[in-house]
Amino acid sequence: MDTITSRDGLLKRLTQSGGEGGVLRFLTCGSVDDGKSTLIGRLLYDSKLLFEDQINVLERDSKKHGTAGEDIDFALLLDGLEAEREQGITIDVAYRFFATEKRKFVVADTPGHEQYTRNMATGASTADVAVILIDARKGVLVQTLRHTYIARMMGIKNIVLAVNKMDLAGHSSARFHEIVGEYLKSAEGLGFDSIMPIPMSARFGDNVSHRSGAMTWYTGPTLIEHLEGLDIDSDLQTQPFRMPVQWVNRPNLNFRGYSGVIVSGTVRPGDSVVVAQSGITANIERIVTADGGLEVAYAGDSVTLVLDHEIDISRGDVLASAEQRPEVSDQFAAEILWMNEEELLPGRSYMLKIGTATTPATISALKHRIDINSYAKQPAKKLEMNGIGVCNVSTARPIAFDPYQDIRDMGAFILIDRFTNQTVGAGMIEFGLRRASNIHQHAMDVTKTQRSQIKSQKPAILWFTGLSGAGKSTIANLVERKLAEAGHHTYSLDGDNVRHGLNRDLGFTDVDRVENIRRIGEVGKLFVDAGLLVTCSFISPFKSERHMVRELVDEGEFIEVYISTPLEVCMQRDPKGLYKKAKAGEIKNFTGFDSPYEEPENPEINIDTSSIAVEEAADTVISMLRDRGLLG
Ligand code: ADX
Repeated sequence: MDTITSRDGLLKRLTQSGGEGGVLRFLTCGSVDDGKSTLIGRLLYDSKLLFEDQINVLERDSKKHGTAGEDIDFALLLDGLEAEREQGITIDVAYRFFATEKRKFVVADTPGHEQYTRNMATGASTADVAVILIDARKGVLVQTLRHTYIARMMGIKNIVLAVNKMDLAGHSSARFHEIVGEYLKSAEGLGFDSIMPIPMSARFGDNVSHRSGAMTWYTGPTLIEHLEGLDIDSDLQTQPFRMPVQWVNRPNLNFRGYSGVIVSGTVRPGDSVVVAQSGITANIERIVTADGGLEVAYAGDSVTLVLDHEIDISRGDVLASAEQRPEVSDQFAAEILWMNEEELLPGRSYMLKIGTATTPATISALKHRIDINSYAKQPAKKLEMNGIGVCNVSTARPIAFDPYQDIRDMGAFILIDRFTNQTVGAGMIEFGLRRASNIHQHAMDVTKTQRSQIKSQKPAILWFTGLSGAGKSTIANLVERKLAEAGHHTYSLDGDNVRHGLNRDLGFTDVDRVENIRRIGEVGKLFVDAGLLVTCSFISPFKSERHMVRELVDEGEFIEVYISTPLEVCMQRDPKGLYKKAKAGEIKNFTGFDSPYEEPENPEINIDTSSIAVEEAADTVISMLRDRGLLG
């Protein structure tokens, strides 16, 4: 048997001829215990591509541990492969390869637990067909509808509804039609090219590769017949040329090439290409591979391209057909599948990885979420685990892309948590926002440096964070007074004050707090640009947002002052009587009670006002400003 376990291996395999019908890539999905493993095992077994000794072991193990009596338990085959997967193969999806006389198949095998939506999405991103398994006894489940939606989102055009375990449902035609009816009610509106329902019993092979004697009422094709005959117009080769640059290959001064995998189209020496982001063009001089030069390279090939003259290219750039260029924008609409237990919060900064490029990004607007039961659009402020939403995304740097539905590898991205480095979301770009391409930075004659030189100071944000009642505003107020008295130019932004004006529309949910700090960060940045020393006093409970503000300004322009006065002391002081109210349950989401505070890890200054007087605290801050040369 032939198992492909890496994307590169898979791509290589795909570029080989797939027989008369071409290679068909599919994935199986369903809930745990719907019979996914058994079905894949059955397909591999029936296609006779297992090695003899694997079959012998399987027969022996089935007698020993199987749950299928004297029959072969095909799920055991997959369990064996599972163990193989655990040994050092890091991707979550295993690709298995089998063939019939008519066609070659690659099946993506993805674990079925609810928390593995991520694996399903990964498998779906390279598949032509999704085989959605349903246990005939259980019928259509939320998971069925979720997987169907993800399949559509991932660009899959063809669905097989495998109504499995028909033997346990009395091989009943009525039950089959009932399930199909219910499924079609939801899935029909999603715009698939084909939905093929097949009643089967994977354990016994009924309607998998041979016709079922127990379900003579079913006259449609078996699963294999259907997959063999399915018309997949793989148009990757006819799409415009795209290659995200993985690295600049420069072994010596005489050679410079750009290496990567071609994700769509073809390329030949003499072709004119463009660096999508910069718009600089060049011609292809040579195509180099491990096996020598090529006259033409296709989607799926790993190549090194040598250009006719040197241009500035680095990892993350996209080389593309000069006649048919991808879009380049820092704002676009996308569908996002959220895969993390911590919710997606619009306004929060994540790392976005598309192709070989990585850039900070935020969800600038969550337009709606998809109700997975009805596929209806619902208003939403955040996305929870497994939630799907349509969003506007804004990136720190412009990225090159094509809509996902045109070229999958040019429109798919992932979102990564900036602190844990976990993949937290998968996204599909729908289109670039026109407003982004119509708005350009206007260069101003007077610069930040000039503005601050006139004031004989260097600008900075002094960011006071800590619990309510910790003393942030009191210290910030004294710092500003002392600075002003010494003739410096300052401004002060304060939570309670700003919430009366600019941020009067915001409350205290996590989403609103993120937006509160995002706006203050932007305002703070403007004041820094104006050359001011600006104090900001906000609880700012999340380290993500404090980090985001730090990144908005230049190195050294953000000074985090953690007012670390303990909760008990703040509660005792209770200057506004808010802790009393929170304790009585009159205020919801109160920081320190039912809303978290994430302590700074490396603040520039840490002040606990239960042991330091306000005067001393303010002087500490000011002497740091002086030490850093900010006060002229
Ligand atoms: S932040 O969390 O979004 O940074 P911000 O600093 O703007 O909060 O506002 C905090 C101030 O709002 C507190 O000092 C307090 O006076 C008031 N407040 C009212 N409700 C709450 C609440 N639920 N949690 C925290 N502060 C609250």
